[in-house]
Parts: sequence; C-alpha cells; structure tokens
Amino acid sequence: MAEWVEAVELDVLRKKKKVLANVGGEDVVVYLFEGEPRAMADICVHKQKRLFKGLIFQGKLICPGHQWAFDVNTGWEEQMGRCQPVYDTRVTNGMVEIFAEPRVIVSPVAVAN
Ligand code: FES
Repeated sequence: MAEWVEAVELDVLRKKKKVLANVGGEDVVVYLFEGEPRAMADICVHKQKRLFKGLIFQGKLICPGHQWAFDVNTGWEEQMGRCQPVYDTRVTNGMVEIFAEPRVIVSPVAVAN
C-alpha cells in the first residue's frame, strides 16, 4: 500500500531548487513551482534520459534528451500526447513528503478536470 515518504527539507529544496529523491525505489525529481513542491518521475517516458538534468521553463520541465516539455503539475506533454508520471506532494513540519504512488493522465481532458 502506498504511503507518504519524506523526500527533502523544504529549506534545502528552496536553496537547491531541484533535488533527486528515492520514492519506493524510483528516482523522483522534486522541485518548486510558484513556491510549491512538485514531484515527477526522473526517467523520461520517451528514451529514458534523466529529467533531473532538465530545466524548468514556463511551467514545463524540459527533458534534456529531446526537449519534450512536461507540464510541471500534471506531467502532460502536449505536443506528443504522452504523460510523465507525477507524484502528489505535501509539507509536514518543514519536510517535503511525496505520496509513493505516481499519477499518469491519459488525455488532456483529464488535465482540465
Ligand atoms: S528522452 Fe526525454 S524527450 Fe527524449
């Protein structure tokens, strides 16, 4: 059964902007967007490059492999119609926690709801 996993102190994330965490055996990129922690699977659904090495630009996490641009909140890649798994996050006593069950959307309709 999935559970919340401690990933990084919020203060550390604020300083580093982006960290790599291990959640249930999976590498997960943890980053801030508009001051709120977000989390996305590190290994790209396209050709397995590491998103940790990518840039966050205009609400997208850009893969360094082939520049697919995943929505920082949903993981949706609009042009390719693919989704990178994302994880729910919360902050408890200054610690960023990640729910160890990724979410994957299958269509942009799901983004709107
Ligand atoms: S490996 Fe990420 S876009 Fe190709």
